Amino acid sequence: MTGTRQDPAADFTIEQNWHEYSAEEHAIWRLLFECQQRLLVGRACGEYLEGLGGLGVEANGIPDFRRLSDVLDAATRWRIVAVPGLVPDDVFFAHLAGRRFPSTCFIRRRDQLDYLQAPDVFHDICGHVPLLMNPVFADYMQAYGEGGLKALGLGHLQRLARLYWYTVEFGLIATPEGLRIYGSGILSSAGESVHCLEDPRPHRINFDLRRVMRTRYRIDDFQKTYFVIDDFQQLFDATRPDFTPIYREIAVLPDIEPDALVADDREFDPRRVRGKKMGRRLAAAQV
Ligand code: PHE
Ligand code: FE
Repeated sequence: MTGTRQDPAADFTIEQNWHEYSAEEHAIWRLLFECQQRLLVGRACGEYLEGLGGLGVEANGIPDFRRLSDVLDAATRWRIVAVPGLVPDDVFFAHLAGRRFPSTCFIRRRDQLDYLQAPDVFHDICGHVPLLMNPVFADYMQAYGEGGLKALGLGHLQRLARLYWYTVEFGLIATPEGLRIYGSGILSSAGESVHCLEDPRPHRINFDLRRVMRTRYRIDDFQKTYFVIDDFQQLFDATRPDFTPIYREIAVLPDIEPDALVADDREFDPRRVRGKKMGRRLAAAQV
């Protein structure tokens, strides 16, 4: 990485000014939080629910980033920094590489409860931060930041952005209890939390690095395809190799459309349970 950024303006960080949130803003947080709490039991992965519990994020209201950062720092050496919105790619990657998660401060309005194209504080804090309590995921995010700075230099940012999209934002994970959510974009959306697991239409395909990096995505609708990992260690191991030759290898291959299936895809069977065969009764209860 080139140079450390000392000037607060240069790294786009701002003050959260926690004391300035209005009662209405805290009330919107409560609504969103309570709704997701109900939906995410049995849908979010265990690592997420544990992280949320460990952070002490509650329905009470929008959390103070300073308090959350102290808990996070003690667990995995990550901190939260406040930013005004989307920041330039190089700034974003430099923050992740330095184990700083850039979070927006503002909260959506009451008439936008279920749909938002840009991240807000509920998405950033409730969606992203709990998984940063997990040591393997925490290291993956830092590695992603370093990989981002490298991809920028190589001109392959689009390929790497797809990896972020289909893992950090919209990833699913196969657990012994069945399919679960770990992607933040899903975790902070009531509609997609149900859609991604229960709707028969989207594809659920076993994670493959090259396949993911070739797949376009849409930002204006529920996903047409979700990629399923077995665990965070698999994701971390699959992304550890140097991407330079991989970028070169896939540069000559065509992109894959968001809803397309290709020859080597292995579609995930939502009733598949790792380790042992499921009894009939259990299987029926899961679908
Ligand atoms: N191994 C990747 C590279 O060489 C870096 C990376 C790690 C990217 C983890 C994403 C996630 O570019
Ligand atoms: Fe996000």
